[in-house]
Amino acid sequence: MSLSLWGGRFAGGPADALTELSRSTHFDWRLAPYDIAGSRAHARVLHKAGLLDDTDLDRMLEGLEGLLEEVRTGNFVPRPEDEDVHTALERGLIERTGPEVGGRLRAGRSRNDQVATQFRMYLRDQARLLGARVLAVVEALVEQAARHPEVAMPGRTHLQHAQPVLLAHHLQAHAWALLRDLTRLQDWDTRSAVSPYGSGALAGSSLGLDPQAIAADLGMRTASQNSIDGTASRDFAAEFAFVTAMVAVDISRIAEEVILWATAEFGFVTLDDAYSTGSSIMPQKKNPDVAELARGKAGRLIGDLAGLMATLKGLPLAYNRDLQEDKEPVFDAIDTLEVLLPAVSGMVATLTFHPERLEELAPQGFSLATDVAEWLVREGVPFRVAHELAGACVQACEERGIGLEELSEEDLASISPLLTPGVRSVLTVHGSLASRDAYGGTAPARVSEQRSQLLKEIARA
Ligand code: ARG
Repeated sequence: MSLSLWGGRFAGGPADALTELSRSTHFDWRLAPYDIAGSRAHARVLHKAGLLDDTDLDRMLEGLEGLLEEVRTGNFVPRPEDEDVHTALERGLIERTGPEVGGRLRAGRSRNDQVATQFRMYLRDQARLLGARVLAVVEALVEQAARHPEVAMPGRTHLQHAQPVLLAHHLQAHAWALLRDLTRLQDWDTRSAVSPYGSGALAGSSLGLDPQAIAADLGMRTASQNSIDGTASRDFAAEFAFVTAMVAVDISRIAEEVILWATAEFGFVTLDDAYSTGSSIMPQKKNPDVAELARGKAGRLIGDLAGLMATLKGLPLAYNRDLQEDKEPVFDAIDTLEVLLPAVSGMVATLTFHPERLEELAPQGFSLATDVAEWLVREGVPFRVAHELAGACVQACEERGIGLEELSEEDLASISPLLTPGVRSVLTVHGSLASRDAYGGTAPARVSEQRSQLLKEIARA
């Protein structure tokens, strides 16, 4: 008897070239434990529907148990002629239980509903693992922020000095972005906990099997409400690929800053030796390779997402073999983050910040000009006029090569009588920081309040 799943109507075997093209065991083997879990659940509904007697059910469950063990130890592996993980495991079961028992398992199911279910099961486990790794980066950021609660730095827009902010505020901004990615993974999980098992090839099952029982057995929220949708939809995979790409993009933005911050020109951070690399020719070099790889790999994850979307576009309902191409991009995204995230959390946790340099640059580039304008507004001056006057202060400073904080009371009065000595109270970085005390602002009290919120989110995650 052929161990192929579909030989019956064919006179000859497949061409070698087809076998080579068709085979997917080199990447779908990671679904093996989920295939076996699905088979166990399927065996139980077959039994409940009266299609498997007590003895056969026991033998089948025992066979599946043994097979799982051998998959785990590496004693059972796919053969070159096994088309995919499902084919290989059916062969394994038949080898263990004989065709009389093992051959009954396939009743009422198709690889189309199997693969759609198992892919979801695998991704649900991965969502939890990745979530923990994303959380580790969030924690590293929040801990660094806590180590420097009062240090000011130049906040930038367009990469130009804009307004002073707290370093802790800046680091926590990255933490919020990653926490949202973590919530995206959790939301995805709720939405994707749907079991296509029982959809069959596309039209559902005629054998009195209960899809909801299998769904519950597999820890899913419900069975697919529509068997065509169950077997044909892959938006769950695309959404997962989007969330992983978003994680990579958010990590890449941190990475880009670390790369800049570690330059001599910025001098904001020193990378720990354990998270930097040297040069084969330039003995003095200390390179931010972790951050650069993070930035580079973001491109790769965006490619994974784009490739998958291109595969899905234009596919008619229901299953098409193109869908076998859904797994590699998502697996690649997972495997990439799996090695990237621990390196990034380690790099962030071990950064040494240089507060004196950050503080020195904070007021530069006339970053207190907005404070002058807003002080005038508080004094009753229309913002349009205030903006002009603060601009005139900047111009005066630029001509004389001094900073705003160096303008004397006379200098200020000569620019405008509205600039009374009181304005000098906001012409310090820490005065400016303290004044931005609205909810979500960079005032130290707000940043520490924000830290408590972050810690709450971390505890809840
Ligand atoms: N290996 C296929 C996949 O990953 C599942 C097999 C479905 N094949 C089929 N001819 N219906 O999508």
